[in-house]
Amino acid sequence: MNVASRLSLLKPSPIRAITDGTPPGAIPLGLGEPTWDLPEVGRKALLRNPGPCAYVPHVGLLELRRAVAAFHGAHVDEVLITTGSQGALFSLFQAWVEPGTKVLMPDPGFVAYPALARMAGAEPVAYPLSKDRFRLDADALVRTLDAAPDVSAVVLNLPSNPTGGGGSLEALKRVADACTARGVLLISDEVYRDLHFGTRCPSLRDVTDRGVVTSSVSKGWGAPGLRVGWAVGDPAWLVPARTVHGYAVTGTATPAQWAALALIEHSEAILAEARAAVGERWQALAGALREELGHAVTAPDGTFYHFMPLPEAAHADPVAFALKLRDEAKVVLIPGLAFGEGGRGHARLSFAATPEQLREGVRRLAPYWKG
Ligand SMILES: Cc1ncc(COP(=O)(O)O)c(C=O)c1O
Repeated sequence: MNVASRLSLLKPSPIRAITDGTPPGAIPLGLGEPTWDLPEVGRKALLRNPGPCAYVPHVGLLELRRAVAAFHGAHVDEVLITTGSQGALFSLFQAWVEPGTKVLMPDPGFVAYPALARMAGAEPVAYPLSKDRFRLDADALVRTLDAAPDVSAVVLNLPSNPTGGGGSLEALKRVADACTARGVLLISDEVYRDLHFGTRCPSLRDVTDRGVVTSSVSKGWGAPGLRVGWAVGDPAWLVPARTVHGYAVTGTATPAQWAALALIEHSEAILAEARAAVGERWQALAGALREELGHAVTAPDGTFYHFMPLPEAAHADPVAFALKLRDEAKVVLIPGLAFGEGGRGHARLSFAATPEQLREGVRRLAPYWKG
């Protein structure tokens, strides 16, 4: 059996190396998903049975597209429903990223971006984030863009997985203008935008209608298992992506789209509850970090991730350090290096876990920071 050669371009994720083999009783602070229940309106809508469980148009259920359009202040023709926002990212990359070109992405950044670029035959090129809180640094991004010929797409992620850092409206505008001037597709991954602490990060749609926004019900609406996401942007960008998505999966599961519709129709209450759940967890984590480690921490701009500085001695081999924490302290967290070289000195600690797990987790971690 010969696996297709393109697979050799994909590196095994260090996240798997940490999470596979998690010992019993370990506290899961490596999670990238909400741990609270699917809101009731979503559970009920899943049971809705409009007769046959039929396909819906490739572009998505019309009612859901209308709801997503209203949420983003867009026209219904500017919405493509996909299988998670991951389905949107994959389809956009396959549709628009020419083999041999480059795709700019944040470092540290979401692990799927380099893999998606490589699967499209392109080269991932990292741009750095700001040194102070890993926020969007427009100057650094535009410098990287100017230095790299043949860029086909640029990816933004505000607020960011894994750092929680956001960016200003001005920075976003500067990047959008630079991409428009060069005819480069700008994809703004806004999947965490509604899980914010205080001010919500700006959306790409606040500064331009030229790029594409991707998002889903996975984080803010607490429903990653539904696998419902979307792309919002100029139909000229979306139509080729719809062709790819259609051949890949035909369409997103119909009951899941009805459930996503119910969640989005109740966005105000659901998103407020999610922010309260995340806020309560942040307070538990911040309190434990202060008491156990003396760390003075500030809340991220958004997400449920704390990007925690590692002890100096762990910088040489952060993966070995994370494995030691997993196996000895029985706490799972993800080394920042998994998200790119820019994350080497940090670990991603997810506070989607319960407040009790967070307090106990930090208590177990403390000796490894103090020692
Ligand atoms: C930054 C970011 N973008 C996209 C995704 C994909 O999420 P989904 O396909 O569930 O919408 C994730 C999932 O963890 C993520 O962290």
